[in-house]
Amino acid sequence: MQNTVFPKSGIPWAELHGVMQDIRLQDSKWHEGRMAMSSYVVDDDLLKVSHDAYLMFLVENALYSGEMAKKRKVGFASLTMFQDEILKMALEILNAPEGAGGQITTGGTESVLLAVLGAREWARKNRPDIKQPRIVLPRTAHPAFNKGAHYFGLKVTRIPQRSDDCKADVGAMEAALGDDVIMMVGSAPCYPFGVIDPIAELAAVAAKRDIWFHVDACVGGYVAPFVKKLGFPVTDFDLGVPGVWSVSADLHKYGYAPKNISTLLVRDAALKDYFTFYFEDWPYGTYTTPTIGGSRTGGALAGAWTTLKYLGEDGYIKAAKTIMDVRQRVFDALKSIGGFEVRGNPDIGLVNFGSNVFDIYAVADGMGAKGWAVARAREPHGMHLALNPIHAKAIDAYVNDLSDVVAAVKKGKIAGSTDKVVYAG
Ligand SMILES: Cc1ncc(COP(=O)(O)O)c(C=O)c1O
Repeated sequence: MQNTVFPKSGIPWAELHGVMQDIRLQDSKWHEGRMAMSSYVVDDDLLKVSHDAYLMFLVENALYSGEMAKKRKVGFASLTMFQDEILKMALEILNAPEGAGGQITTGGTESVLLAVLGAREWARKNRPDIKQPRIVLPRTAHPAFNKGAHYFGLKVTRIPQRSDDCKADVGAMEAALGDDVIMMVGSAPCYPFGVIDPIAELAAVAAKRDIWFHVDACVGGYVAPFVKKLGFPVTDFDLGVPGVWSVSADLHKYGYAPKNISTLLVRDAALKDYFTFYFEDWPYGTYTTPTIGGSRTGGALAGAWTTLKYLGEDGYIKAAKTIMDVRQRVFDALKSIGGFEVRGNPDIGLVNFGSNVFDIYAVADGMGAKGWAVARAREPHGMHLALNPIHAKAIDAYVNDLSDVVAAVKKGKIAGSTDKVVYAG
């Protein structure tokens, strides 16, 4: 086969850099605040600091850190320190009781997968009577739980959310339980509607049957506690709630750390054993990993440690305030333009809105044509925003464009699209 992409001789960096700059022009303009999904950004100052920190430890490998590195005095004492301190900060932020523990992972999906694996292994040991284990969760919970069930051979029952407030239906979830259920889940918040499920009630139902109860706070874990400190009513969801066994919380979302990094916290450090892999029969020696992947860049640990320390509680509270101010601007605009409805009563900066008056996908198309990267929700049709501090600089333009686009849609100037909604490729 002819080499057409892999060059025969190396290409100078200046040329490659030029290609990258050019192709980047086609990306959604997250940096201008024109994309309210996937990128979690405070400002240029933090980007610079966290990226510098990341690059400092890009080559170091987190596989060679932790207990083994401490004992043998080889590997990366630096990464071990970052890891230990990140977990201590996470446990403080999420109200962990004495004896709780945690694990750093590469993202929300890995944190969820490990929690599912942990629940399965716990049940294998403590409920050997269960032949085909099952998870019960609200339909709004992230697909990563189905991914975990698919990988680890579990069944899943997804229960429709309540129609009035889009939260988990506790009664219906309880009714779906049986002797085969090993795990229940609530989200804080769920991604589609940004609402926190009634965690305390769900946890109480799970506790009655000794079922592993996981809170998926991948989105809310590092923002909801600070929104609460600002005085907003936020449903309790963390390890301080009785009956919560584990919490996933992503540092690469509202922790504002560079990707890939998340935390999985467990109410009792001994539970970590259920998702840790041990292997002895290898000529090289014992192989033990508490994560799905093996080698991981130290950059993600350095980036997250620096972000947490650089912002501190004040910085996170300030970021949360900016988000809630921008959210209020969105709410005000939706009201003054008219014809919109916000789905549920979002707890943090995720907002899902639609309309019974005009075609919301036509509005999405119109906003797209004006250079906004629009996230669409499918059921019911809606537009979705994951608001960040960086959106403060774009909110005036967003509101103006939204008003113009709605006027055009009402005049029939923008036809509704039939785009299939794809969340992740
Ligand atoms: C509630 C929730 N859980 C888990 C995930 C998965 O996170 P990641 O994409 O970091 O794997 C997401 C991603 O948006 C999410 O919203």
